[in-house]
Amino acid sequence: MDVFPNADYLECNNPHGQRPFRLARGFFITFEGGEGAGKSTQIERLAKKMRAKKYDVLLTREPGGSPGAEAVRHVLLSGAAEPFGPKMEALLFAAARSDHVEQLIRPAVERGSVVLCDRFLDSSRVYQGVTGGIDPAFMQALEQVAINGMMPDMTLILDIDPAEGLRRATQRRGAEAEADRFEKETLAIHQARRDAFLAIAEAEPGRCIVIDASADPDTVEHVVTAAVFAALEARAPARNRQAAPV
Ligand code: TYD
Repeated sequence: MDVFPNADYLECNNPHGQRPFRLARGFFITFEGGEGAGKSTQIERLAKKMRAKKYDVLLTREPGGSPGAEAVRHVLLSGAAEPFGPKMEALLFAAARSDHVEQLIRPAVERGSVVLCDRFLDSSRVYQGVTGGIDPAFMQALEQVAINGMMPDMTLILDIDPAEGLRRATQRRGAEAEADRFEKETLAIHQARRDAFLAIAEAEPGRCIVIDASADPDTVEHVVTAAVFAALEARAPARNRQAAPV
């Protein structure tokens, strides 16, 4: 079985042959949102832009990102774990996240890279916690074990009307192809997820930024880029940016 279905998610080095620089301390950014919000497109565009500016960027995703987590991804998205209930799924997402954090994310942040991750802990809070109906105390305990202190520095929540998001997601995969385990749920569930992401953003304004993802991709890219570079400037003063090239 190919545990690296999309090699770029595991790419640690700058593909353009430039000499990237590393920050004195890395920066961990997560992208969140419902189906069809355009996270994958935007995260790839941001990675390209940052690499062009010589940032050392690691692009990754959940569930997955490390070989162990990619193996669990298949079990989760195929629906193989669905009959065993949302608690079982939450535990599997947490197991995958723990492996991903320890094998890939933490080492990258510690060596000074910018880590861009397509979905992370907020997806578990929303999909398993809120719409899976799992006890919040259980979810909180699981989250702490899974991330082991590796909280994102910044989370971009791409917000879109779920009807439009699902339309885009169907178009992307092709109407004949089957929706995955989570995408196939009812519009009411997707609406509840949207509300839950917005509630997280409201509760944690220091970490989360909500971005209107209904605009065209270039406009969304502009907003994403501005937000990320502003945060990096604020976090990494000029002297950090002079860190030795790698
Ligand atoms: P994926 O195919 O990666 O696509 P996208 O992010 O574009 O939707 O699907 C991942 C699915 O897994 C998605 O429906 C959300 C779900 N998910 C959870 O339910 N909990 C989680 O903790 C994570 C990371 C994802």
